This record gives sequence, structure tokens and C-alpha cells, in this order.
Amino acid sequence: MKPTPQLLPSGRGVWNDKKVRKMLKGKKIVLGITGSIAAYKACLIIRGLIKAGAEVQVVITPAGKEFITPITLSALTQKPVISDFFSQRDGTWHSHVALGLWADAMLIAPCTASTLGKMANGIADNMLITTYLSMKAPVFIAPAMDLDMYQHPTTQQNMERLKSFGNQIIEPASGFLASGLEGKGRMEEPEKIVEFLNEKLGNDGNGKTLTSKKILITAGPTYEKIDPVRFIGNYSSGKMGFALAEECARRGAEVTLIAGPVNCQLSITNDQSLIQRIDVESCQEMYDAATAAFPQQDAAILCAAVADFRPEHAAEQKIKRVGQTMDIHLVPNPDIAAELGRMKRDGQVLVGFALETNDEEANAQRKLEKKNLEFIVLNSLQNKGTCFRSDENQISIISRTGQQDYERKPKREVAADIIDQLEALL
Ligand code: CTP
Repeated sequence: MKPTPQLLPSGRGVWNDKKVRKMLKGKKIVLGITGSIAAYKACLIIRGLIKAGAEVQVVITPAGKEFITPITLSALTQKPVISDFFSQRDGTWHSHVALGLWADAMLIAPCTASTLGKMANGIADNMLITTYLSMKAPVFIAPAMDLDMYQHPTTQQNMERLKSFGNQIIEPASGFLASGLEGKGRMEEPEKIVEFLNEKLGNDGNGKTLTSKKILITAGPTYEKIDPVRFIGNYSSGKMGFALAEECARRGAEVTLIAGPVNCQLSITNDQSLIQRIDVESCQEMYDAATAAFPQQDAAILCAAVADFRPEHAAEQKIKRVGQTMDIHLVPNPDIAAELGRMKRDGQVLVGFALETNDEEANAQRKLEKKNLEFIVLNSLQNKGTCFRSDENQISIISRTGQQDYERKPKREVAADIIDQLEALL
């Protein structure tokens, strides 16, 4: 029995707990908290990290304690909070060197302009900075400050310097600031910070959650030849399929990408070796490549906008304009998804797409059954500025157990949502 996607049992909802899977299981994270009003958000970061399976040790600056109490933090982390070089109660020395060796990552959130400056210049006058200087693991910094402080050349230079040492900056967001002003400087939202760490450190330490999995993806349109210069095609750009291929490769999967005629280029450099691209033109060519590759795959995602019909005969020479009308006799193309649905063996996962203009959900449900898919990704042409050629998409995922609606977002993020669902089934 295959597991069904982790969709809500029925109805709709917001998929806000998708990272609950233990992506950070066993990871030890030092969370540095500094004196910013955003310090209260550290509670949500701790909760997110622990939910993802991490162990969290808080190190807080003296100014940080003015904004949030160590009691709250130790209750959440179930560990005493470290702030001083020596424990005031019994004089025990807190070894920043040991913390540097213990941690799999250090996150400083919120990080004030002052702490940024101290880190950039090695001013080791508190436990947080000594811990940072002793850190052997990757360091992530989430700045939080007013917009003018953030834009100041000193802050910008300090950040550049810290980046040049290999630290990773989690850029602040724009929005309402504690000063009452609006602009860039607000610490990134806790959920996003946890997601960032998930991506960088998830599972086997590098976010490669699909290592050793083989995934077939079809992308783009197909062209069905009328004569040497004309074809029947559609507006598909291939962007969604390429984003899916890149997301799978980013997570370590070996991808076979069967692409119709598109202008897309694969944009990632490091993981390109994981993507084998096969260029095809017609449905028949895509069908041949997909059915040949499918038996070796763990999953297939049928994202291509395949032409359902082709001209029965493609003319060998350019058809000349004669007469007032012209008939082209069309014959049906093979249904690649349905064929893979028939070939599917136990353990293989099949995902389809449905692009609809009307009766969206009913049509998608029908295709899910007809093609024997695990789930289907529905997008509607009624959502203007999504689907064909756009860089954004707005989808719903429909399985046999329920439906989940997502907000409109860049195709790269949509791809991550889809692959999260696929991953839960592999
Ligand atoms: N598909 C396919 N081969 C085809 C037609 C469709 O693999 N010849 C796949 C698409 O890649 C998509 C799913 O089937 O994952 C649904 O495609 P769609 O064109 O929406 O559905 P059709 O079955 O063609 O139905 P209709 O044209 O009636 O909407």
C-alpha cells in the first residue's frame, strides 16, 4: 500500500506546517540573541527549530536580556540560557570553545548593528561574540534594525566583511519597524528563518533530502508538425517543469528532464550534473523517451502541456495557399500520463498537472483517477498572470484524501511546495 499525501483529510486549509517533518533531526544549534525588540520573535524561532527536530542552546547578550527573559528561553529550549562567562550561581565557566565544537550551526537572530560590528571586528566583550569567534560550524545572521541603521555604510560594510568570512546573512524584510518607520531592516519572519536553516542544513546536513532518488519530469509544449514550417503547439514556456527539475536536483535527486521545444535554460550550476535533459519535439517523441525511462524511476511528474492531437500526415513540402479553406485531419496522440499510470509498479509515484479554464476541481479529480496519479497539481487560467509564460503560479494540490490551496508565488517556490508533497510519498 502506498502512503497517501499528507493532505488535510477533507476541505481546504493553509499548509503552514509543511516543515514539521524532522528536517533538522539531531542538529545542534546555538541561537545567539541580541538586544533588539525582535528578540521576542526568538521564541518562535526556537519553537520552529525544535519542531524540526533540532536541539537549541541559547546564548544571549546582556542587552538581549532586557528584551526577553532567560526563564522564557530556558523553558522553551529546556536548557539553561548562557549569558555570562561564569555561572553566577556556582562560578562554573561556560566554555565558548566547547559550544563552538558542539554546534552544527550558529544562528544569530535578531542580530543588532552593534553585534554585527563586533563580529566583523572581533570585539569579544561578551559570551555571544566569543562563541561566534570559536564557532567551527556554519554561522547564519538575521539582522534586525531601523532602516537608516541598516542602510548606513558601516553596517553594509560589516555585513560584506562577515559574508567574506563565509557567514550567511538572512536578509531582513521590508515593513513596519518598531520606530514607526517603514523600510528594510525588520528581521525576517521566524518561519522563513527556520525554512532557511532547513534548506541549508536539512536532513543529511546539506538539504539533500532526495539523494539516490530518480525522478522523471516532462516539461514545455509539444509541437505537432503540419509541414516543414508549421506546427500545432501551445503557449507553455516550460518554466514550471524546469523549476521542478532544479528543485529536485537541489535536493540531490537524479532527474531525467524530457523537454519539449522551450527557451528555458537550467539556471543552477552546482547540481546540473544531476539533470539529464532530453530534448524532444512531438508528443510521440516525448512518449517514447518517457516510457523508456520510467521503469528506472522512483517518481514521474508530468508537467508538459502535451498536444492531444496531431495532423494525420505531415506534408513533406510547404503547403501552398490554394483555395479559400483548408482542412487538416487530426488523429489522437498517446496519453503519456495514462500510459505511465498503467506501467506504474508498487512504490512508484506519479504526479500530474491539470490546467483548466472551467470546472477546475471536477476536471482535476477526473484526471487523477483516469491517469492513476498519486496527486494532481491544478492551475487555472482564471488566475490572471499565472500559468503560461508567467514567472508565478497559483496552485491547488488534489489527492484522494483532500485538497490544499496555495497562494500565488514564484514558480521556484511553487516547485518546492510540490516537491515537499512528493517527498512525503517517497
Ligand atoms: N498528459 C500527457 N500526455 C498527453 C496529455 C496529457 O502526459 N497526451 C498529461 C499532462 O502532462 C498532465 C495531465 O496529463 O500532467 C493532464 O493533461 P491535460 O492536457 O490537462 O489533460 P488531458 O488528459 O489532455 O485532458 P483535456 O485535454 O480534456 O483537458
